[in-house]
Amino acid sequence: MNKNRRRFIQASILGTAAAATGGLSQTATAKEEQTATNQGMDILILGGTGFIGPHMVREALKRGHNVSLFNRGKTNNTLFPDLTLYKGDRDGGLDALEGHKWDAVIDNSGYVPRHVEDSARLLSSVSDFYLYVSTISTYASFAAPNDENSPLGTLDDETVEEVTGETYGPLKALCEKRVAAEIDADNLTILRPTYICGPGDKTDRFTYWPVRTSKGGDMLWPGTPADEIQIIDVRDFATFTIDCLEQRMTGIYNTVTPVGSYTMGDLHDDSLAVSASDMNAIWVDSDFIDEHELAEGRAIPIWSSPEGEYAKVAMVNGEKAVAAGLRNRPVRETARDALAWWNSLPEERTSTPRAGLDPAKEAEALAMWKAKHS
Ligand SMILES: NC(=O)c1ccc[n+]([C@@H]2O[C@H](COP(=O)([O-])OP(=O)(O)OC[C@H]3O[C@@H](n4cnc5c(N)ncnc54)[C@H](OP(=O)(O)O)[C@@H]3O)[C@@H](O)[C@H]2O)c1
Repeated sequence: MNKNRRRFIQASILGTAAAATGGLSQTATAKEEQTATNQGMDILILGGTGFIGPHMVREALKRGHNVSLFNRGKTNNTLFPDLTLYKGDRDGGLDALEGHKWDAVIDNSGYVPRHVEDSARLLSSVSDFYLYVSTISTYASFAAPNDENSPLGTLDDETVEEVTGETYGPLKALCEKRVAAEIDADNLTILRPTYICGPGDKTDRFTYWPVRTSKGGDMLWPGTPADEIQIIDVRDFATFTIDCLEQRMTGIYNTVTPVGSYTMGDLHDDSLAVSASDMNAIWVDSDFIDEHELAEGRAIPIWSSPEGEYAKVAMVNGEKAVAAGLRNRPVRETARDALAWWNSLPEERTSTPRAGLDPAKEAEALAMWKAKHS
């Protein structure tokens, strides 16, 4: 039995005993004990310097774990000068990882099945636990709500390695399959997040909404205030990731805000609340959006038409993760902190947002909408 398995069983026994006495303080003590016994794990993060990785690194360090990194040294390479960096490329360049041991590995940069398979194979014998960061995009269809048992997308040609809007989901599904073929189910967690949002989000998808709101004036909002959306705050995701390692929570977990808990109307209210602007919302129906191709690319991010191919993309069941301890903070905090982060960025970055409606296109669309409805 490996070291962490023993720790986990010890902690579980403690937890059960405390619960049986019904004493709240004893349960709390057992929880503290469990965290304490799992402190100081050696964690390797493949891809710890992008968007999500740094939040995981900080969460793990905060809890007293030792973190080392594997990446090429290209992205944010001055972020963690005190951490050991095993430098290499996932594409055939894993040599730096040989001859070391870890309590847990987080694969946070796996998009290509061959890369994921290579690292899982190499690390399976030198790590007690493995966590693969996947995505809800693995699901074959969003015409109906999904849970962890829903069918996954497939590729006609499994040798394809180019990551595009179309191949991303099925490639990640194949990555899951490959990692599961290398790592025992007793040692493996797979997380499927939806849109990961908050400070540092390089996609600008969620950030667009509070940022655009803060600029004020007439603003195009898609669909209706009742349209449901789902996100996950990057810090809640990072917390849950480290919880999975400490508590050896195996299996597959959708990591999302609860179905039905958040709407575009809520996003509108939160964006206004955190930006104190005079923004005036003009809700534009999905037919108009389709007719004028306003949602092409990432122009209207996070929202999906409740009618189309992605009608149920915000109906991904996340109850299993919540039962396992995932806690979602109020989205208003995500909006507040995403906006503050954006406002801290240099002008050269904020002048070219990577998502959201181009201001001229928005103004033109609003003029057409008003002309039609005056
Ligand atoms: N963002 C979202 O909303 C979202 C939603 C669902 C799931 N996900 C999943 O979340 C994970 C992390 O996303 P992210 O945006 O935080 O990270 P990311 O930008 O995809 O990954 C960046 C990290 O990976 C390293 N990296 C990239 N290519 C590499 C290579 N060939 N070899 C070695 N290291 C490499 C980078 O460092 P170097 O450049 O220095 O190598 C950096 O540390 C992904 O698996 C993604 O599928 C994201």
